[in-house]
Amino acid sequence: MSLQTSDFIQRREALLAQCEPSSIVIIPAAQGVTRSNDTEYSFRQDSDFWYLSGFNEPDAMLVLSNVTIANKGKSQHKNSKPMGSIMFMQASDPHAEIWHGRRLGLDHAPASLGVDEAFDIESADELLPELLNQHKHVYFCLDKYPYADAILQGAIRQCKSAPKQSLVAPTHIIDVAPMLHAMRRIKSAAELKIMQQAASISANAHKRAMQIAKPGMYEYQLEAEIHHEFAMNGARNPAYSTIVGSGDNACILHYTENSDMINDGDLVLIDAGCELQGYAADITRTFPANGAFSQAQRELYNLVLNSQMAALKHLKAGACISDGMTACVETMVEGLIALNILQGTKAQALEQESWRAYFMHGLGHYLGLDVHDVGIYKQYDQDVPLEVGVVMTVEPGLYIDAQANVPKQYQGIGIRIEDDIVITSNGHKVLTAGVPKTIDEIEALMRENRDCNNKLRSAHAVS
Ligand code: GLY
Ligand code: MN
Ligand code: MN
Repeated sequence: MSLQTSDFIQRREALLAQCEPSSIVIIPAAQGVTRSNDTEYSFRQDSDFWYLSGFNEPDAMLVLSNVTIANKGKSQHKNSKPMGSIMFMQASDPHAEIWHGRRLGLDHAPASLGVDEAFDIESADELLPELLNQHKHVYFCLDKYPYADAILQGAIRQCKSAPKQSLVAPTHIIDVAPMLHAMRRIKSAAELKIMQQAASISANAHKRAMQIAKPGMYEYQLEAEIHHEFAMNGARNPAYSTIVGSGDNACILHYTENSDMINDGDLVLIDAGCELQGYAADITRTFPANGAFSQAQRELYNLVLNSQMAALKHLKAGACISDGMTACVETMVEGLIALNILQGTKAQALEQESWRAYFMHGLGHYLGLDVHDVGIYKQYDQDVPLEVGVVMTVEPGLYIDAQANVPKQYQGIGIRIEDDIVITSNGHKVLTAGVPKTIDEIEALMRENRDCNNKLRSAHAVS
């Protein structure tokens, strides 16, 4: 189950169809990034470029045009036809490929990527002015990659300085992001299949961590179990740095050191999701290292869970994320007052936003090729309603650090519960339902595993 060349062609056509007449679209690829001397971070393609090309090499640039060339100028075309699509890319280079890996090569690009032509990226400086010359509008994402900004600026400069207007620079540079990101915000059936698979692999990884966890292990060992499960199921990379926070490390929202030993009595918060064909999953579960929630942990956990369930009831097409957030916060505030963590009335807590001391982030975010995916949340100060095909996370949490001025039993506890949902025509579907979420489900899974290990140990002792 993977996207086909025809899917990428369709996306390019859909984008071009929204552009003004006489437009050229330029989408640069990501570049390699040095990690330390002579070594690079594992390459991750730019999400916009990937969305439109499915091409996973650095130093490339996709150029699309809706101009029809009527057999004039330098064109060799016999009939009028749209200029279509060009991939600037690294040419084959046997020496470089021995060191750095295979390249698709210019000859294979048209068939493999569905583009009309492919040129060496080294020739972009020379060819781009001629391509710009035939267009009024350039759609581009300025300020994203300095190398691409420099290529475009250089090309415009050449057009402007060409003698006797032999080249004419485009008159409008337009940000391509709003159109492109609106497209990316709504997932197709094919994308949803991949995202469901990413979610299922990630759900199984969380189950594996719950089954293996015990006091005395190190946080990074659970991280390793999670990554093992991802890779063994075809997802080599996590979609973001995995968070394994035990005890009050769970109160650090983006804790990624994952270096501490897990103590008996700790809760362990794991926020981990794999990347599959570029698409992210993003799941958080929080569970007791020893398999049994304490009373205080139970109270706070159920409060987060009830807050998430309250939010989920509101998340459907036509509603806004803020509707879910309002329901979530109301439930959370009632619970925090009942537990004597917040003082005063519900109205006062809502008015003063005193709950923000313990729940510092939003309800969730769009999910897709980026874990914090593109797409707008507000326009002209109005919340943008959810639509069928939007995928988002729903991830309330409570983070009560060890010094918080609250009843002692709640200090040093961090809990987040995060699921991924897709908005459907009749509400929403939870993509991450495969991982236990209620206290009973989590304790049962962990107990099952302990019982199984005990049986194995006694069998070994007898034999
Ligand atoms: N894993 C990052 C987040 O939940 O937003
Ligand atoms: Mn998230
Ligand atoms: Mn997350």
